[in-house]
Amino acid sequence: MSFLIGDKMTGGYGGADILHDCTVSVERGEIAVVVGPNGAGKSTAMKAMFGMLDLRAGKVLFDGEDITDLKPQDRVLKGMGFVPQTSNVFTSMTVEENLEMGAFIRRDDIAETMDQVYGLFPILHEKRLQPAGELSGGQRQQVAVGRALMTKPKVLMLDEPTAGVSPIVMDELFDRIIEVARTGIAILMVEQNAKQALNIADKGFVLVQGENRYTDTGSALMANPNVRKAFLGG
Ligand SMILES: Nc1ncnc2c1ncn2[C@@H]1O[C@H](COP(=O)(O)OP(=O)(O)OP(=O)(O)O)[C@@H](O)[C@H]1O
Ligand SMILES: [Mg+2]
Repeated sequence: MSFLIGDKMTGGYGGADILHDCTVSVERGEIAVVVGPNGAGKSTAMKAMFGMLDLRAGKVLFDGEDITDLKPQDRVLKGMGFVPQTSNVFTSMTVEENLEMGAFIRRDDIAETMDQVYGLFPILHEKRLQPAGELSGGQRQQVAVGRALMTKPKVLMLDEPTAGVSPIVMDELFDRIIEVARTGIAILMVEQNAKQALNIADKGFVLVQGENRYTDTGSALMANPNVRKAFLGG
């Protein structure tokens, strides 16, 4: 059984179903990537796994436990971190305040974790007293990822962490994400930069209209001519 799995998820936002029997999973220390066209339901699948959507069918299992009915906050307590696609930093707060907010559920000393985040993203230490809104897009994404790491999650879910950043910044961010995965944290991320993301992925899911179109290892998907032609620009 997978460390985290959204298993045969069906549901939506109250109207017609968006997800149809959709399955997405990730193992400890692994990077799993979800790709697919705009509107395919990638964000919806992430939200469903984080408890922001009521499923009509299917379930979510985490570390051997059925968490389908848990609220997002309780999933955080279990060890899930989530960086949503939009509004993922508090722009008027400083970088450091954003990180402190991320640790809101913790009652222990957060200094060590904050040092780890600053070690991972040194620029954030430099800018720690600046409002997050003054940072570049790539730096803001670092704040968002850092904020999620402040709860010391066992799984980190990222919805388009490299949206709107340059290729160089994207590569940088992917390197940091690989570093996080190497510490044993499971990474589940949605990516528009499908080729680059599948390149670093242990496992990939191609979603189309709320369904799994292809599910395989990152390298197998990269090598699949049909996937390449339809989803990776040839
Ligand atoms: N809050 C919402 N209420 C109702 N429908 C929604 C809501 N959010 C998304 N949808 C619909 O659900 C479908 C899937 O959207 P979703 O955001 O999951 O796609 P996506 O694959 O993440 O797309 P993108 O690549 O643009 O981020 C779309 O048809 C969208 O219009
Ligand atoms: Mg999305």
